[in-house]
Amino acid sequence: PLTARVNRQDFLEIGGCDVKTLVQQFGSPLYILDEVTLRAACQQYRDTFKQYYKGESQVLYASKAWNCLAVCAIVASEGLGIDVVSGGELYTAIQAGMNPEKIYLHGNNKSRHELIFAIESGCTIVVDNWYELKTLVELASTDSSTRIMLRLTPGIECHTHEYIRTGHLDSKFGFDPNDLDEVFAYVSKQPSLNCVGVHAHIGSQIFERQPHRDLGAVMVQWLRDAKKYNLELTELNVGGGLGIKYTESDDPPSIEEWSKAICEVVQAACAAENLPLPKLLCEPGRSLIATACVTAYTIGSAKTIPDIRTYVTIDGGMSDNPRPITYQSVYRAVVANKMSVPLTQTVTLAGKHCESGDILIKNAQLPKTEPGDILVVMATGAYNYSMASNYNRLPRPAAVLVANGEANLILQRETYEDIIRQDCLPERLK
Ligand code: LLP
Repeated sequence: PLTARVNRQDFLEIGGCDVKTLVQQFGSPLYILDEVTLRAACQQYRDTFKQYYKGESQVLYASKAWNCLAVCAIVASEGLGIDVVSGGELYTAIQAGMNPEKIYLHGNNKSRHELIFAIESGCTIVVDNWYELKTLVELASTDSSTRIMLRLTPGIECHTHEYIRTGHLDSKFGFDPNDLDEVFAYVSKQPSLNCVGVHAHIGSQIFERQPHRDLGAVMVQWLRDAKKYNLELTELNVGGGLGIKYTESDDPPSIEEWSKAICEVVQAACAAENLPLPKLLCEPGRSLIATACVTAYTIGSAKTIPDIRTYVTIDGGMSDNPRPITYQSVYRAVVANKMSVPLTQTVTLAGKHCESGDILIKNAQLPKTEPGDILVVMATGAYNYSMASNYNRLPRPAAVLVANGEANLILQRETYEDIIRQDCLPERLK
């Protein structure tokens, strides 16, 4: 959980920094990333795998959750590798100093340009489909230095939002498991490709324990099947997906419980098949970073419709946090400058965008608010900044990294100049 406390003024502090002062200094809205919390989550994953897995292990950060130089540098310094899904994420990870040997490139439609970039950078390519596999055979140099893994659809169902389920058979990701033999046979005949293992990812924000246990067992069968084709696969990547607690009713397993279960099931399945232990990888995104960040907004206008509801509006919304409108996600909020004022009103927290659906939180329990109060939405580290847009030409917020009472800018606030930077006005329109 967050390094947070309420100070003598009754204001919220994160990482030793007063949130209201941060907003005065860096502007509003503001993403506030707590370094201690992020590092603690990295350490929990890393150390649990070290403790419970008898073979080698490597935790990768799924950087789609939040990819920028500072975040990549922090996870690299904790010994984690990184999962990237585009040339842009790959470029950022490399620029942040991540060792390419710890970078894994995903994607179900990587461009030729992205594949060439990946081959040249020396990262591992997680091959998603036949088209990509054949393109790689064409592009890879013959010295077999191109490391690949195969992504397969495991056919495992889990209960999460349908947009973020990926492991069921009807998924756009990965090779059809019915093609397994054909894929292994083909790959085993490609001298230019060094196929090191298999990958699967079943979905995101998962609370159930069983799907990942099933996954570990299924994946060990793939390692066994590969042997028939003289493929010695030494890496097994179970993906990410562990859920986090956005609200009181959310009850996910802890990082330790999840990691331990994965280690145990893979070890047991390997023992049963008499297989050597593969290097075990996982790639959590949300559970590494979500709870380490909050978004601070400034409260503005309000509208009360008698007997219906009160809207309280903040200075951001679906452009800096598109999750509520996209997945009906639920968040929790507090008023940073009124931490022990009784929660006497139930309001609908609305964003400032030109859409009725731009609602951040329905039925938020808040103290009585007035313009200028600082609203803090909790657990916004994952898929907020990374999915942010300039809808309605709002400049994207700044982000600061806080630790021990110090705040460092890690993302500059966009300006109006940034907003028109890529616009072109043809001569004849001037
Ligand atoms: N590995 C692969 C191949 C993935 O596709 C994903 C997430 C992860 C790892 C990390 O999963 P996590 O540990 O974060 O659950 N935008 C959605 C989530 C999309 C997840 C996409 N893939 C949201 O805001 O809920």
